[in-house]
Amino acid sequence: MELLPENQQEFFRSKAAAIAHPRELVIDALRAVQSHHGWVPDEGVTLVAALLGILPIEVEEVATFYDKIFRRPVGKRVIHVCDSICCWTREGEAIFTYLQEKLGIAPGETTTDGVFTLLPTCCLGACGDAPAMMIGLTTYGPLTPQRIDEILAQVRAEVSA
Ligand code: FES
Repeated sequence: MELLPENQQEFFRSKAAAIAHPRELVIDALRAVQSHHGWVPDEGVTLVAALLGILPIEVEEVATFYDKIFRRPVGKRVIHVCDSICCWTREGEAIFTYLQEKLGIAPGETTTDGVFTLLPTCCLGACGDAPAMMIGLTTYGPLTPQRIDEILAQVRAEVSA
């Protein structure tokens, strides 16, 4: 599968050539690869480095720092479950356990139908709605088992539509 369309490659190439610090574009370029390819393989890191004229290690440092950049294949939707303090004090651990049981997967795994990958994450900035999780760019909370059932059903329907 193509990592990034040629027009987007050209966009990053010319933008990098026009600025003093092309490293500023690393996250945008990684997100573009991930958006197009689903995740960022080694070849994606190499490509971003070449487009920006920097070393692959400089790209890899960023790619492995942020947990929203996926260096392994993931499902169509990634569930980030908050495991930070506010959520933890409001039954976050039980919610995380419920999600694992409901989906039949452990943290880091993907459901057999390829729809969901489950990952723990640090504070989502939704402490007032704890316990919280994020799917794609949407944050959900406060979560209960019933609310989780509704959300998963809704997202499954969107994915299969
Ligand atoms: S601690 Fe969970 S959203 Fe902040």
